[in-house]
Amino acid sequence: MSDATHDDTIDWHRFWTDADARDRADAGPSAHHATDAVAAFLDETGVPDAFADVGCGPGHVAFAVADRYPDTRVVGYDAAEPVLEENCERAREDGVENVAFERTILPAFDPDREFGVVFSYFTLCYVREIEDALRAMYDAVAPGGYLVFNYQNRLARAHWQRMADNPDEFLGEDSQFDADRFEERFRLLLDGENLLSYERIHDALGTWPQSVWSVVDKPDVRWAWRHHPLVYVPK
Ligand SMILES: C[S@@+](CC[C@H](N)C(=O)[O-])C[C@H]1O[C@@H](n2cnc3c(N)ncnc32)[C@H](O)[C@@H]1O
Repeated sequence: MSDATHDDTIDWHRFWTDADARDRADAGPSAHHATDAVAAFLDETGVPDAFADVGCGPGHVAFAVADRYPDTRVVGYDAAEPVLEENCERAREDGVENVAFERTILPAFDPDREFGVVFSYFTLCYVREIEDALRAMYDAVAPGGYLVFNYQNRLARAHWQRMADNPDEFLGEDSQFDADRFEERFRLLLDGENLLSYERIHDALGTWPQSVWSVVDKPDVRWAWRHHPLVYVPK
């Protein structure tokens, strides 16, 4: 079965069905960039009763939050069934009882519950109707809670275009990305179809985003936060 994402990006169902170790690392950036930041954010703003990770992939953040906060109910959502099945299997094997995985294909997101925090990392760049996706996720945030996500801006597009134009330099052996699938995967970003800015987020949600780094310490790692801002929108 297809995951119906491939009109705008790669077929993520096939990606997760075929993924080798390198593919898995490349499609799990939250492991390195976001897991600690999310924990610090929750420690600072208050641990939610329920936490959603939308576009969770292998569930790095979902499992980390479930482990750190056993009283929080965590749900990881993704469009691709194979990765959801793997995550369910891992939860069963490891006896993690406060995490579940369900399917959603953004921009549709209509869970039958609200979450104190809805989080989404490196997933909106694959969604053409990005404002609809933002609104749907914001709708699922409980009053007093937060939508937390990263997004791609004009700087990200310029950098990604440089990579696409210079595959020998940027997409060789050492690259985290598969050169053959790069342009297909990041079609929307390269076309500038769904770039976000503080203004566009404000226009979509009626509330200004704020940098997560205004709440928690920015990690001392070389990472392009200017290209891929990590923000929260309070509700
Ligand atoms: C780059 S991975 C990021 C995974 C995880 N958030 C992380 O950062 O480790 C993007 C994930 O988004 C999922 N995805 C792609 N398009 C989607 C859509 N329209 N709705 C929901 N998930 C989607 C893919 O299956 C993939 O698991």
